[in-house]
This record gives sequence, C-alpha cells and structure tokens, in this order.
Amino acid sequence: MTAPVSPHLILVTGAAGYVGSHCLVELLTSGYDVVALDNCINAVEGHLPDTLPESLQRVQSITGRSLLAYYKADLNNATELEDIFSKHRFSAVVHFASLKAVGESCKIPLEYYRNNVGGTMTLLDTMRAHSVRRLIFSSSATVYGTPEFLPITEEHHTGRNCTNPYGRTKYFIEEILKDLCASETGWSITSLRYFNPVGAHPSGIIGEDCKVPNNLMPYITQVAVGRQPFLKVLGKDFKTKDGTGVRDYIHIMDLAAGHVITLDKILQEGWTGWNVYNLGAGTGYSVLEMISTFEEATGVPIPYKICDRRCGDVDELWADISKASSALNWKPTRSLADMCAHSWNWQSKNPMGYRSAAEGDGSANGVRQSPVKVPDAAVASGVKALNGKSKSFDREVNNNDEDVTVF
Ligand SMILES: NC(=O)c1ccc[n+]([C@@H]2O[C@H](COP(=O)([O-])OP(=O)(O)OC[C@H]3O[C@@H](n4cnc5c(N)ncnc54)[C@H](O)[C@@H]3O)[C@@H](O)[C@H]2O)c1
Repeated sequence: MTAPVSPHLILVTGAAGYVGSHCLVELLTSGYDVVALDNCINAVEGHLPDTLPESLQRVQSITGRSLLAYYKADLNNATELEDIFSKHRFSAVVHFASLKAVGESCKIPLEYYRNNVGGTMTLLDTMRAHSVRRLIFSSSATVYGTPEFLPITEEHHTGRNCTNPYGRTKYFIEEILKDLCASETGWSITSLRYFNPVGAHPSGIIGEDCKVPNNLMPYITQVAVGRQPFLKVLGKDFKTKDGTGVRDYIHIMDLAAGHVITLDKILQEGWTGWNVYNLGAGTGYSVLEMISTFEEATGVPIPYKICDRRCGDVDELWADISKASSALNWKPTRSLADMCAHSWNWQSKNPMGYRSAAEGDGSANGVRQSPVKVPDAAVASGVKALNGKSKSFDREVNNNDEDVTVF
C-alpha cells in the first residue's frame, strides 16, 4: 500500500549523511515530499556527474520514490540558500547538517563553530525571510556533558559540563533557538537530543559509512568484516555490572520514526515555541553486552583486548525518554539484537561502505549499479548550478566520532 502524499514539502539539510538518509526513508514512505541539501563534506558523491550522492540514490531505490530536488549546497552560503528557498515553498526544515567529530572539533574549533553555529544562523535568517518557521534540530546527549544524575532527563542542565567544541556548538545552537522562539511568535522549533544512534535500514542498502570507526558499533562491524584486527575495550574498571562502560544505544530507524512523529506534530496548529526531547532507548548496555549480543545475533566472533580507559569517560549514561513517550507518543521498538543484526547486514553487504559502489568495485550487494538521475529540475537548479560553489576546508579524516560512547 502506498502512503498518501502529504501536502507538505520538507527541506532536509545534511540529507546524505547517516541520520539524514535513514530519516529520508521514513519521510518518503510517510508521504512527505522532500528537497535534500548536502555539501557532501562527509558524504560520498554519486560516481557519475550530476547524479545524487550514493546514499540518496539508495534511499530512492528503497522507497521507490524520488526526491523533489537535491542541492549540493553549503549552509553557510546565504546566496545558495536564498536561491533554494525562492524556488520552493517549504512547510518545515529538518536540520541534520553538521560536523560531528568530537576529536576533530578540539583541533579545528573555529571551523566547527563556523560550520555548525554559523550554518544554522544562515539557515534561520533565510527561513525567517521566507516565513518558514517550523524546524527540527538534531541535537545530542553531548549537551548534558558529564551527567549529574541518571537517567538523564531534559531538565538536566546543559552546557556547563560540555567537554568539547562539538558539544558546545549543539549547546549554543539550542540557546539561539530558544532565544528566537522567545523573541518572535510563530516559530515552532523542536530539538531532538540523540543518544547513540546505531544500526541500519533492515535491507542493508543504507547504513553508517565510517572510514575511521570511532564509535563502538562501527568498530565492532569493522572487526567482524576484517577491516580491524580486534576491538579495543577501553577500560574494565568502571563502576558497572561487568566493569565496562554503559551507554544508551538507539536503532537508527526508531530515531528516524521519532523525526516523522515530531514533524507530524509541529505541522499541527497550536504546536508552537521551543520544545526538546531525548531520543534514546531509555536503557543502558555495557560494551561486553554489545559484543555478546552482536556475536549471538550474527554468529560472527569479535576478538577484543582490554585496554586502558580514556580520561574523562563516565561509568554510565542513559536517557529518560518518558517525555518523548508521553508528548510525542513515540517509543523505540527495535531491540539490541536488531541493532546488531542490521548493522552487520549493512557492513557485510558493503564492506567499504558507500565507497564500494562509488569506486566501482561492485561489492554493494543487492544495490543497483546504475545511478538514479537527479530530477531534471533539480539538475538544472541544484547540482549543476551549485556544484563547486560550496566552501570547504581540509580535514584530516572522514570522522564519525560524534557522541559520548566509550568502548
Ligand atoms: N550519529 C550520531 O552518533 C549522532 C549523535 C547525536 C547527534 N547527531 C547529530 O545528527 C546530525 C546528523 O548526524 P550524522 O551522524 O548523520 O552525520 P553525517 O556526517 O553522516 O551527516 C551530516 C551531513 O551534513 C553534511 N554537512 C555538514 N556540514 C554541512 C554544511 N555546512 N552544509 C551542507 N551540508 C553539510 C555532511 O556532508 C553530511 O552528509 C548531526 O547534526 C549530528 O551532530 C549525530
């Protein structure tokens, strides 16, 4: 059964990334029309000229629906944004675009503040100029910093304990969004604070594409596929059930569903002002539990070595999700075994991530090799018009170490 098409057109920034691409699947299958924007600083571009980034081609193949348009554009470029907003009438914006590597943010903080905070300011200015006042913002549990109580509720203070520039960009943006909602009526802005998104679409066609695995689950799957020799478990002297760090992991499709439910709400009359919700599983899993669940779910052994813990890693951290559950009527439905099985399905079908297909080695099982063309209108106005204009800067690695994970 095909979903009825919504009258609402949604702009998704950072659409080609891990969270963005999975949310696009949910948005398209829920009937929303979508315009996607990404500068591809952390996404694999289509391997032929004027084609969609690899992840977006696959989103279209999973859903059987086309994006209304795709723009390779940089949020910091006001001219590019103005051009896009003058071509489309958006009902709301879902804003994923961000740099997210904690370690990198300590080395190049100005680039992080400029990209994340500056890009959001440019987006907000353009939204206001075009009377688009509904926004979902990708925030993070990093805004809480070191937790002072567990489980962490939305009332836990933010900012004070942030340990890195990346986390502070999320905190500063939230403060800006609150000030905006307090100063002008008509805005409806919801900040979703993610705990650790893991897993992949069950098809294994899209997933998290890490060159360097800095989070636990991608590290496990890269060990499983042979890209890493063993897993380093960073510390076994935490005050937890088995001595390894405990964190909250949420299946990426549950996270994606949370965005669609939030979008349905903010498009309703009367849902205004600033709102914030934790999106997590609402429970914590230790590193050793993750390893054993992965082994049981997939049958693949994960060799590991216990190493020294990292300075600053806390014992335990998990979310209170009762606010999202009562206000949004949202609850995660996938188990830890699902997270492991789906991560492995993606990684085993795509050992080198999207690069397998983009570099033409043909190892992207089950995924069509011919690219889906961008709709003509988008090619004319988007890819061709905007290609090459985006500002960028040199980055050491394609990093994916957003979060508060220990492993
Ligand atoms: N993945 C996580 O563990 C996690 C946890 C908490 C919060 N978040 C937040 O969720 C959002 C999405 O994260 P993700 O894991 O999908 O990251 P990702 O890097 O896979 O996706 C982000 C996308 O934004 C694009 N982008 C970055 N700066 C841009 C700019 N100036 N203009 C246009 N596009 C730009 C990148 O090319 C990339 O495709 C981010 O805001 C991130 O901070 C992620």
